[in-house]
Amino acid sequence: MINKSPTILAIESSCDDTSAAIISGGEVLSNLIANQEVHREYGGVVPELASRKHQENIVPVVNQAMAAANVRQENLDAIAFTHGPGLLGSLLVGCSFTKSMALALDIPLIGVNHMEAHIMAHFIEEPRPPYPFLCLTVSGGHTQLVIARDSSKMEVIGTTRDDAAGEAFDKIGKYLNLDYPAGPIIDRLAQQGQAKFPFPKAGVDMLEFSFSGLKTSVLYFLKKQLKKNASFIQENLNDICASVQHTIVSTLIEKIETAANMHGITHIAIAGGVSANSGLRQALSDKAKEKSWQVYIPKLEYCTDNAAMIAMAAHYKYLNEDFVDQTVTPEPRLKIG
Ligand code: KG4
Ligand code: ZN
Repeated sequence: MINKSPTILAIESSCDDTSAAIISGGEVLSNLIANQEVHREYGGVVPELASRKHQENIVPVVNQAMAAANVRQENLDAIAFTHGPGLLGSLLVGCSFTKSMALALDIPLIGVNHMEAHIMAHFIEEPRPPYPFLCLTVSGGHTQLVIARDSSKMEVIGTTRDDAAGEAFDKIGKYLNLDYPAGPIIDRLAQQGQAKFPFPKAGVDMLEFSFSGLKTSVLYFLKKQLKKNASFIQENLNDICASVQHTIVSTLIEKIETAANMHGITHIAIAGGVSANSGLRQALSDKAKEKSWQVYIPKLEYCTDNAAMIAMAAHYKYLNEDFVDQTVTPEPRLKIG
């Protein structure tokens, strides 16, 4: 017999953040995150270091999440983990930990798709979108247009041919000598600049994206300007950031509009790390007024990687009795749907 109001421990370890959350009866009681600063000096996530840090962090983070929610092991009805997509070594830590805990406690194990969980983050708090809704999921590894028909029925209708939007922010940030991850830094600097440098849009056919052309054109633009003026980047940093952000955001909004028109959907959501971008949040709100859409923009803490979203997805999987067994292994390339 399943509990209609389950208490679940969820763990997220797909990339460089170790996070644990407790959800009970669909309400998130705690959500703890240990960030890994170690990658900053390398300008990107180093998989081997990420995996080792997850091993160090996982027990304290789980203990803190349990304590903050005032939940003990015997209160748990199930335990959930990020099944994929993500870095194999990082996913393995969360998967192995939860498998042994589920075995020891003799409770069901739930495997959650990280990208579906980003979308399910919209159900943590009001306003919750009604099905079907369109969601743009934009992170460091993905850029996808998804129609969510139900918590277990999601369909990808558009994706990127090459880089993800977050990757474009981060790689362009490297050319500008910004720290990793550059997305939030570009966002902050862009707020003090003007989008005066024209870069080519990052859209291709209909609902497809391509960010590698933008990346190359920014690189060539900078090389050309630096030949004329060696301090071009320092003197124009805010305007360059505003121009890059404007280009990425306007492409994302254009594709959302095309998808919404094609599928006759007026409930529109954004999810994933890049949905924290202030330019994207503003542009989507402005477009919603023009198009009479209802838009759903997650709280900042639920945009970037967190275990609360894994817990939310796990809640519905538990009610559907969608469990995995001890033979489960991480799937670094797990797809939506
Ligand atoms: O979802 P997430 O935390 O991890 C992945 O699943 O990839 O997304 C991380 C990505 C990074 O590329 C980061 O630069 C980007 O989200 N990001 C942002 C902002 N905050 C995070 N990009 C633009 N503006 C932001 N404010
Ligand atoms: Zn993510």
